[in-house]
Formats: sequence, structure tokens, C-alpha cells
Amino acid sequence: MTAGAEEVLRLPEGRPLPDWVARLDRTAFGDAWKRLAPHEALWVIPERAFARWSRVPAAGEAELLRIAVSPEARGQGLGRALLEACQRDLAAEGLAHLFLEVRPTNTPAIRLYESCGWKPCGHRPRYYSDGEDAALYQRLG
Ligand SMILES: CC(C)(COP(=O)(O)OP(=O)(O)OC[C@H]1O[C@@H](n2cnc3c(N)ncnc32)[C@H](O)[C@@H]1OP(=O)(O)O)[C@@H](O)C(=O)NCCC(=O)NCCS
Repeated sequence: MTAGAEEVLRLPEGRPLPDWVARLDRTAFGDAWKRLAPHEALWVIPERAFARWSRVPAAGEAELLRIAVSPEARGQGLGRALLEACQRDLAAEGLAHLFLEVRPTNTPAIRLYESCGWKPCGHRPRYYSDGEDAALYQRLG
């Protein structure tokens, strides 16, 4: 699928995570999550961005676990292209109720989410390992 000029791909189920995803995971979040669990799915803009989701098809829900764009490629619309493509693909699967947690201090991410139709719906106290609260957002497709 293309989103704007960007090619957005969904990693086939059971495929190992590409090495560049682990590298970007570490750069953006300080650790690299392992192989996808059976209920998880990964969308990528190859070499530059990924979004990892947890899916609950029986409930029509999905949670955005992580989204990251390579530092040198930020601010060029890749995050928006990737997120919009994920939202379209998930809606096509019947997953229209979307959730995520984000640090309230993460202004670039919050602006991205709000501009893609996400709304704040609560918070989780001391959610992160350093004690910061998480803001909870949802999007109803
Ligand atoms: C959050 C992130 C994915 C955004 O990706 P991106 O490709 O830079 O975002 P885009 O260029 O598509 O911008 C989309 C919107 O986000 C906002 N945004 C992006 N960078 C921003 C910045 N540095 N400051 C403020 N807002 C910003 C803008 O509102 C922008 O909309 P606009 O172009 O209409 O102004 C990226 O900054 C990133 O990888 N951050 C590190 C990982 C992370 O924190 N992930 C989210 C938590 S899971």
C-alpha cells in the first residue's frame, strides 16, 4: 500500500523482525522488543519507520504499542503516512477502536496522534519504569 509517496508494508505473520527494526527500536526506546506475538502486527516504511500493534479481533480493538521514525527522517510526514495506513488497514479488518499510551511530555507524538483523530481518554499513573504517568488516547474509526 502507498500512503502519500511512501510505501507502507505489513510484515507477513511469522516472519522474523528485520535487523533495522531492532536498531530503530533501541534508538527510539532504549530497548528492542523481540519477535511478534501471535496477536501482534507490524507495519513498516522499509529502513525508516515501523509501527507495532496488538490486535484483539473479537473485540474490534487494537493497541498501538510502538511507533518510531528514524531520527534523520523525522518531520517529513513519515509518521503520519505510517499511522494513517495502519488505521486504514485495521479498519478494513474491522478493528476500529484503537488505543495507545504516550508520555504526556512527548509533544511530537501527541501532536501526531491528535492530528490523526485520536482523543485523550484517561491516564495511567506511574505507567513508565521511570515513574512518569501515561496519557491514554483512543480513536474510534
Ligand atoms: C513521534 C514520531 C513517530 C513522529 O514521526 P514524524 O515522521 O517525525 O512525524 P510527521 O513528520 O509525520 O509529523 C506528523 C505531525 O506530528 C507533529 N510533529 C512531528 N514532529 C514534531 C516535533 N518535533 N515537534 C512538534 N510536533 C511534531 C506535527 O503535528 C506533525 O504534523 P504537521 O506536519 O501537520 O505539523 C517521531 O518523532 C518518533 O519516532 N519519535 C520517537 C519515538 C516515539 O516517541 N514514538 C511515540 C511513542 S510510542
